[in-house]
Amino acid sequence: MGLLEGRVVIVTGGGRGLGRSHCLELARQGAMVVVNDLGLSLHGESEDGSVSPAEEVVSEIEAAGGAAVVDGTSVTDWDGMAALVERTVEMFGDLHAVVNNAGFIRDRMLVSMTEQDFDAVVAVHLKGTAALTRHACAYWRDQSKLGRKVTGRVVMTTSGAGLFGNVGQANYGSAKGAIATLAGLVALEMQRYGVTANAVSPIAATRMLASIGRSGAGGEAWDPLDPANASPVVAWLCSEESGWLSGSVLRVDGNTVRRVRGWTVEGGYKSTSGEALTTEELGLGIRKLFGAAPLGLAGA
Ligand SMILES: NC(=O)c1ccc[n+]([C@@H]2O[C@H](COP(=O)([O-])OP(=O)(O)OC[C@H]3O[C@@H](n4cnc5c(N)ncnc54)[C@H](O)[C@@H]3O)[C@@H](O)[C@H]2O)c1
Repeated sequence: MGLLEGRVVIVTGGGRGLGRSHCLELARQGAMVVVNDLGLSLHGESEDGSVSPAEEVVSEIEAAGGAAVVDGTSVTDWDGMAALVERTVEMFGDLHAVVNNAGFIRDRMLVSMTEQDFDAVVAVHLKGTAALTRHACAYWRDQSKLGRKVTGRVVMTTSGAGLFGNVGQANYGSAKGAIATLAGLVALEMQRYGVTANAVSPIAATRMLASIGRSGAGGEAWDPLDPANASPVVAWLCSEESGWLSGSVLRVDGNTVRRVRGWTVEGGYKSTSGEALTTEELGLGIRKLFGAAPLGLAGA
């Protein structure tokens, strides 16, 4: 029996790349999967195709004996995400986890970025993640208030660009950083209702990674950049078993899962007067805080 037998999971952007791998692994573990995807290009434009990538994923799951349905709502559609949660519960009788994975990139240096490219990328990642999460959490809160046992799981997708920064990804990286923070906030707010929220930071040779100049190993028995490498972590986070872990960021790099820690407070410079800091003392004070030699000394 799989780890997710009887659980119902929505995966956004489930038609391609990482989302497709997540759907397949979730189904392999026994979950009923709603494969949400708009079939957009890498840069978020519509693509023509007789069979949407999400339909192909559903067929693959069904051929392997699993249960899945397609959904074509954009994650940026706030009310559409409410309707998706409602439809899922009607169709499968419940909802246990959401995997927020949909997205696209429009890389530019900030100085060359258009308002449209900023808004579109922030919307698909940050607003899209918040929208589905908000409506799933409302469902779980209502279930909890009715006295039902809730084991809700929110999985979000952050990235190295959001956690550590990357040149040319000011829109994408700031949205991804905010998503890591959002996971922590949702974890705090939903703890009382039996819901956890965690973020994964994958590294995979999808069309997205290829666009920034990296590709898979190709031809080797095991590919460290295979999108499927991140999916077991996503599947485990969707399970009842992961209920003790919330508000964390897990980076999946090849065959290794790492714990990423958030902001930390380090050191301190206290005013010399014992009262408020003055602008005048900060030239030296901040240098001390960062361990930099005082101005005028060799190498400073
Ligand atoms: N590939 C990597 O190395 C990497 C690294 C860090 C984070 N990520 C993140 O992982 C996620 C998946 O990336 P990928 O590399 O598989 O990309 P991908 O382009 O292969 O897949 C993204 C999917 O999202 C869908 N999508 C786009 N906009 C949508 C919308 N509004 N509503 C519903 N679906 C929509 C697309 O149609 C596509 O199928 C993204 O959030 C990405 O930022 C990827």
